[in-house]
Amino acid sequence: MSSVAHTLTVELGRRSYPILIGDGVLSDSALLARHVPARDVLIVSNTTVAPLYLDALERALSPRRTVATLLPDGESYKTLDTVARILDVLVANRFGRDCVVIALGGGVVGDMAGFAAAVYQRGVGFVQVPTTLLAQVDSAVGGKTGVNHPGGKNLIGAFHQPTAVLADTATLATLPPRELRAGLAEVIKYGLIRDAGFFAWLESQTDALLAADRDALAHVILRSCQIKAEIVGRDELEHGERALLNFGHTFGHAIEAASGYGHWLHGEAVAAGMVMAARMSCESGLIDGAALARISALIERMELPTRVEGVSAETMLQGMRMDKKVLEGQIRLVLLRAIGEAFVTAEYDPQRLARTLDAHLC
Ligand code: NAD
Ligand code: GLY
Repeated sequence: MSSVAHTLTVELGRRSYPILIGDGVLSDSALLARHVPARDVLIVSNTTVAPLYLDALERALSPRRTVATLLPDGESYKTLDTVARILDVLVANRFGRDCVVIALGGGVVGDMAGFAAAVYQRGVGFVQVPTTLLAQVDSAVGGKTGVNHPGGKNLIGAFHQPTAVLADTATLATLPPRELRAGLAEVIKYGLIRDAGFFAWLESQTDALLAADRDALAHVILRSCQIKAEIVGRDELEHGERALLNFGHTFGHAIEAASGYGHWLHGEAVAAGMVMAARMSCESGLIDGAALARISALIERMELPTRVEGVSAETMLQGMRMDKKVLEGQIRLVLLRAIGEAFVTAEYDPQRLARTLDAHLC
């Protein structure tokens, strides 16, 4: 029987690809035979995920030639040096342009494996096997790859779409609770930018989600990937609508950079950033206090942070100026007109931004 419970497609013409979601997809050899069309495969994973899932994936890929490279674990290793290590392994094993790189892990592994695949011999095949909730709902889909720079988050990278995303929901059983909650932050984002009904459903399901209920998680992965696939299909290279997926990230990336990568989990920084963006929307008269209170309450009930300690407003603004949405020196923000309706704007009152930062920095 097939391990796939749901299949979605990211529609990008000849580069369209499937997102296959289900328990056991990473050990389904028939599925891998269809979606990994290569003799030579480099599996990029890390020292935490590999002991859990590498054997099963390698067995399912047999009889291909598989080489595995294990990266040190953590956001602080999401650097050009680590990507250079992946490239060294590809060269040392004389992999050709017909090889496939598989990312087995969370968003950190996925972003770096994807970047290595984007630049090795000017681009080789790439398959995502995400093992965190955050990666299954967000980072494995859409082809953004890259690394951090001390001056800013994800400043160096490339768009390189995978040819398939295999989201094995069984892997979430071993995910630490803090990582699960960080993934839920990106899930809340989809409700806020696009789907008020989904946001309300999340409000009603916090206990199930925090308990890692399988059915509840399966629903959030499916709905999140549907929204992301639709947006990426319309605006792959982020000329417009895709920027909405960055709701909360202008603030969140600045928190991560200011605190030292790895101190805050990405999803935690996004959670605090989304409350800041919601407050800015409220300060600007776009949403009312009741909507802001609902957003803060959901994030708090998911045990995610809403306040930032030890970072000054000036440091936050410096970080926000390095955001990739900055145009002609102007920070652009993703704000809300309502829960479920986001837009990008450069037209806001800087004093309201200062008040927003004041309310969340301590
Ligand atoms: P992560 O990759 O650091 O994984 C979180 C932790 O969980 C790590 O310690 C990892 O080893 C461990 N882990 C992974 N799977 C596990 C499992 N099944 N069981 C036990 N432990 C497991 O973090 P993340 O939250 O997955 O990803 C965050 C990164 O993703 C950030 O660098 C962020 O910038 C990036 N991101 C990229 C995109 C994109 O579109 N490319 C979107 C969102 C976030
Ligand atoms: N995570 C934002 C994007 O993929 O565009």
